Amino acid sequence: MDENIVWHNYAITKAQRSEHKSHKPAILWFTGFSGSGKSTVANALESALNQQGIHTYLLDGDNVRHGLCKDLGFSDEDRIENIRRVGETAKLMVDAGLLVLTAFISPFRAERDMVRNLVDDGEFIEVFLDTPLDVCESRDPKGLYKKARAGEIKHFTGIDSDYQVPHSPEIILDTSKNTLDQSVQELIAYLKQQQIIKG
Ligand code: ADX
Repeated sequence: MDENIVWHNYAITKAQRSEHKSHKPAILWFTGFSGSGKSTVANALESALNQQGIHTYLLDGDNVRHGLCKDLGFSDEDRIENIRRVGETAKLMVDAGLLVLTAFISPFRAERDMVRNLVDDGEFIEVFLDTPLDVCESRDPKGLYKKARAGEIKHFTGIDSDYQVPHSPEIILDTSKNTLDQSVQELIAYLKQQQIIKG
């Protein structure tokens, strides 16, 4: 960063912005293989929260890669930059007072921990979609595993690119064992228990 760029303090703080909401700001960070259920659970949770008047926003890998991150591919380096940008965006949204949901494979522990450290304690909730790879592959909603197995896509997570399992996620979900509603209810219960939303 240029040494001539100086931080400017805002007149209004995160706490003051947050006072206009009926909930606390936070990031629900969904991580796991492609096809593990990140987007499905995040969408269902966002719908449920929206109905309760919670001000949410959903950042989803496939969509963000159409805009903010459209110059990035799937090398390790590009995935790291993808998560850095998304993390910084999510942090700004937390600063604005929102409850942010993110759905990215985010395969590397270091970048997930980097995002955790961008926000205050308790504001980063790591949700590990622990759906086994063979289940994700059998779902293959976009036909990408088939292409990866055929060698038509390189560096595909779980096939020829690494996924580092979280050491201590706040929540673990296995969408091959739980219904969608059970996953949503578990997340809502956690948000209430942490007093992020009202119980
Ligand atoms: S991340 O690794 O940088 O976090 P991100 O979540 O943004 O990935 O994007 C993953 C989505 O891109 C997958 O759901 C899948 O639809 C698509 N995709 C295309 N190529 C790949 C690849 N090589 N590895 C993983 N996902 C890929």
